[in-house]
Formats: sequence, C-alpha cells, structure tokens
Amino acid sequence: MAKTFPQLITSTFLMIIFFTFLHTSTSETPQHYFSQNLSPEEVGIFKQETLSHLHFYFHDIVSGPNPTAIQVARAPTTNMSSTGFGAVAMIDDPLTVGPESSSKLVGRAQGLYAAASQSEACLLMVMDFVFMEGKYNGSTLSVLGRNAVFSDVREMAIVGGSGVFRFARGYAQAKTHTFNIKTGDAIVEYNVYVYHS
Ligand SMILES: *[C@@H]1O[C@H](CO)[C@@H](O)[C@H](O)[C@H]1NC(C)=O
Ligand SMILES: *[C@@H]1O[C@H](CO)[C@@H](O)[C@H](O)[C@H]1NC(C)=O
Repeated sequence: MAKTFPQLITSTFLMIIFFTFLHTSTSETPQHYFSQNLSPEEVGIFKQETLSHLHFYFHDIVSGPNPTAIQVARAPTTNMSSTGFGAVAMIDDPLTVGPESSSKLVGRAQGLYAAASQSEACLLMVMDFVFMEGKYNGSTLSVLGRNAVFSDVREMAIVGGSGVFRFARGYAQAKTHTFNIKTGDAIVEYNVYVYHS
C-alpha cells in the first residue's frame, strides 16, 4: 500500500535521523559502549606532569618474632638451588626517612618477591609503596622489576600509581645499605624518580 504524504515525511525524517546518527557514531566516536575520549581536565588534570624524587629506606626483616617478610611458597627443588630459585615471600616492609629502624615511618612496601634466577641471587619484585605522610597519605606507587640483590644499584620500573601518583611512570633505584648475613635482614636505600599528574 502506498504511503500517505505525512507517513512519507515521517519515514524520510526518521531515515535522516538514522543516517545522521550512523554517520556521527561511525566517524566521530567508535562504537564502544564502555569507553569514551575525555579531555585531561575532565579527570582533574589541569597542569603539566610533575617529576618527583622520593628517598627512603626499606626494612626487610626476615628474623625475630615480628618478621615483615615471610616465605609463603617454595618449590620442592628450592632447597637444592644455590640461588633459592622458586622461593616466594610476602612482604609488608616499613619505609623510613633514615636507615635506623627507629627512624620516622613514611610508608610501607606491600607485595611479594620471588627468587627468579637459577644462576644468581635475583628477585622478581611485585609491590606497592603505600605512603602515609601528609598529602601523600594513602597514595601508592606500583613497582615491577628485577632485583639482582648483590649488585651495587638495581633499577626497577614504576609502572603506575594512585592518589597523587595517578598516571605514574618512572624508575626506582635500590642500593643495599646494610645486610646482616647471620639473620638475613636487609636495609635498602631507595631513590625513586617518577612522573605523575
Ligand atoms: C627445605 O628447607 C626447609 C627450611 O629450611 C626445611 O624445613 C625442609 O625440611 C627442607 N626440605 C628438604 C627436602 O630438604
Ligand atoms: C592517613 O589517613 C588515614 C586514613 O584516612 C588516617 O587515619 C591517618 O591519620 C592519616 N595519617 C596521616 C599522617 O595523615
């Protein structure tokens, strides 16, 4: 049956709307219902990136009644490995301003490390630095890196962050301050260089 004039107008109008929608939705924004482009201002970034340098000491306590690093897993062959290959430790290590254990606490290193090499003492580090001081309180930096513990300076990647460290990327340099061969406890100096919003 032929369309009446008003029906024709209506269907033409609907087609124009449809093709306009199709055009804008295909040419301007991709058809993703879970993503959209934003300007930096919309997520609160009004200025250029900041570059920060953080300096602190990391206390890895494996001995005594209150260890901050505990082994949680090992392979059946770990005991036979000169490098402890396969051992995994969970950590909640204090981060302090100075190297003394009584020094002011500024945060903690929470995560794990695992012996990842069969030929040298080398750890895979997967941890968050969570800070407790002033404007940094509650903000985190995420570290993922290779830590050859007997090398003078080890460099690890900062792969992200939260709070004041949103959009973080950078690197951390670790240098052993003291290592107690008897107990296995270590104090490590960290210098962290990070760009963030
Ligand atoms: C491996 O070492 C752990 C801790 O030192 C010990 O408890 C365990 O019995 C050892 N296992 C073997 C197979 O030697
Ligand atoms: C850090 O934040 C926590 C929880 O929001 C609060 O309890 C604590 O007092 C804060 N610490 C400092 C040093 O501001």
